Amino acid sequence: MEYNFPVTRTTNPKPRPEDETKLGFARYFTDHMFCMDWDEGIGWHDGRVVPHAPLLIEPASCVLHYAQMMFEGMKAYRTADGEIQIFRPDMNIKRMARTNERMCIPELPGEILLAGIKAVIKEDIDWVPTAPGTALYIRPFIFGDEVSFSVLPAKHYRFLIILSPTGSYYAANDGGLHCTRIYVQDKYIRAAKGGTGYAKVGGNYGGGMRASQDAMKYDCKDVLWLDAAEHKYVEEIGTSNAFFRINDEVITAPLDSGTILPGITRDSVIQLLRRWGVKISERKLSIDEITKASEDGTLQEIFASGTAAVISPIGTLNYNGKDYLVADGKVGPVAQKLYDNLYGMQTGKIEDYMGWVYKLGLKA
Ligand code: COI
Repeated sequence: MEYNFPVTRTTNPKPRPEDETKLGFARYFTDHMFCMDWDEGIGWHDGRVVPHAPLLIEPASCVLHYAQMMFEGMKAYRTADGEIQIFRPDMNIKRMARTNERMCIPELPGEILLAGIKAVIKEDIDWVPTAPGTALYIRPFIFGDEVSFSVLPAKHYRFLIILSPTGSYYAANDGGLHCTRIYVQDKYIRAAKGGTGYAKVGGNYGGGMRASQDAMKYDCKDVLWLDAAEHKYVEEIGTSNAFFRINDEVITAPLDSGTILPGITRDSVIQLLRRWGVKISERKLSIDEITKASEDGTLQEIFASGTAAVISPIGTLNYNGKDYLVADGKVGPVAQKLYDNLYGMQTGKIEDYMGWVYKLGLKA
């Protein structure tokens, strides 16, 4: 279906960030956003591109009280010849459907997500950054805004897409990889079986902030979560999935518990490692196995994977008051190769030999 969303251009364009090498993560937002509404009996309607501006929201809206919402994270890249492309949007569409089902949010057809992204990026195309390590972060989200205190799914929803020119989530935005310190959290938990761990919902992150704040006290950038039942097996990192290379086996937590966010970068890492003949296992891995490997010298690499994090190597784990060094604390070869290949394909610097890139048909 062809969508022709009406556009209201801003009359007050913002100054562009002065230095693309100092963007940070989601500190700047573009001039426009996409909005659409859902009403019972009508479905999704009135898609439109409007100036990025604060929303008017009734204080009794259910999302502000019961957090019925979902979001996605994607990125757009500009190739050397000005083509704008995104990465594996079919995976975001599938994950969005699973999240919406879990949260009783009406299904959003994937073609609307893609058409909305294209419509809003078309207006803000000159905001897509080009400095090494940068991208235009795309944040689609849906929330229920029915005025109701009943703990029941809303009868009215809003869907928005906002855009932010962005550098790396954790480290210096210089296009290079740098190691991060991570705090192993064994008091609080992120997700339990039957909960919303596999869904992309704000509550998973809001509930993790206590732990992230504690991690900062130990000079750590984020938290490595352990399983809810035994506080023994590694699950994921605050913003991303986690990979461990021990004795030439790369290990990541399996998805079958329903507590792990099925990251698109996670899936891409697994596929690339299989293609390269690297041993990759989706299996339970205990924190004790990791600390032992650090001590006996077999812990070769740890890295985080995610849309925001891309591939972020981890140089030190802080657990139970002790620092565990990952190899020599420097960026490992597997993390570096993954980063170079993923970001290379995304930005068109290397051939998309996995067929993962989706061109928006827009040229800057
Ligand atoms: C993303 O990687 O897109 C995310 O949603 C992580 C975010 C919580 C920073």
